[in-house]
Amino acid sequence: MRTDGLGTSKTNTLMQEYATLIGDAVLRQRTRVAERKARVEAELATRVKSEFVSNMSHELRTPLNTVLGFSKLLKEHGERRLSDEDIVQYAGLIQDSARHLLAVINGILDISKIQSGTYALDAFEIDVAAVLRDCVAEAEAAAEAAGVTISLKLAFSLPLVRGDDTKLAQVFSNLISNAVKFTPRGGAVTIEALERGDSGVMIVIRDTGVGMTEDEIRVSVEPFGQVDGARTRWREGTGLGLPIAKSLVELHGGEFHITSVKQKGTDVTILLPPAHQMSPVEARDAVFGQGAAIHPANY
Ligand SMILES: Nc1ncnc2c1ncn2[C@@H]1O[C@H](COP(=O)(O)OP(=O)(O)OP(=O)(O)O)[C@@H](O)[C@H]1O
Ligand SMILES: [Mg+2]
Repeated sequence: MRTDGLGTSKTNTLMQEYATLIGDAVLRQRTRVAERKARVEAELATRVKSEFVSNMSHELRTPLNTVLGFSKLLKEHGERRLSDEDIVQYAGLIQDSARHLLAVINGILDISKIQSGTYALDAFEIDVAAVLRDCVAEAEAAAEAAGVTISLKLAFSLPLVRGDDTKLAQVFSNLISNAVKFTPRGGAVTIEALERGDSGVMIVIRDTGVGMTEDEIRVSVEPFGQVDGARTRWREGTGLGLPIAKSLVELHGGEFHITSVKQKGTDVTILLPPAHQMSPVEARDAVFGQGAAIHPANY
């Protein structure tokens, strides 16, 4: 084995060449992996987008066809000799469809604003208990009509959270309305708010209703995802409430979890950070000023 200076420098040069070759190969491989990942992500985004658009056109067309069909019948009422009862029924169907269309359009606008990161949230200190009290009071009539009891349990003292009270009210109202809607007569809906030490507030909306499997939970948080296909879907709602609620909670720097047991009931748990912690809303205010758009942490 040669140990002179010449041999050592040759070995060093060879080693350097090897190192460069290996370095280049690793770099090429990393670039390939990154490119593949970007391509897969782009394909997935395109697929999700086109599924969303096709669902959206279906959801808009169904009620619009009802409006067109029944308004045509009303227009021809002379030849058709419609009874007063028919006329009232058809006008009611047109009104239901128009209301539904408006709800779908509002929901789609919310979702696309959330997805494009242009959703503006207020950032005030909020008393969650007060927001919950209002939401429960609003839901009482619907719960009574559905034969479902509704009760609110509030911890003695709850820390303030930072965020947008109108948007949080939208979240709670949607979850309470789901709990009432998917609980058969005789069931119970309980809304509970607890303090989590230094970590903010935990809100649980619990029902003793129809429940969902794990797969159904995954469907339910997708836009237009409705689980029970047997019901007349578009009269039940738009299927946009849960995905919007989840995104709004996440925009507040919070967490959104659903646990459910089929035929036993569903728990929706929301964790909101306390006002003094740096939430995304607060971070946005610190950097851009109040009311600026922020990107959802996760959608
Ligand atoms: N508490 C619940 N118990 C059982 N199933 C539920 C519950 N909440 C939601 N789901 C299921 O998830 C689906 C999606 O809920 P989401 O709130 O997004 O839509 P929706 O209530 O059908 O419509 P909208 O909210 O526009 O009125 C529901 O259609 C239902 O199938
Ligand atoms: Mg809903």
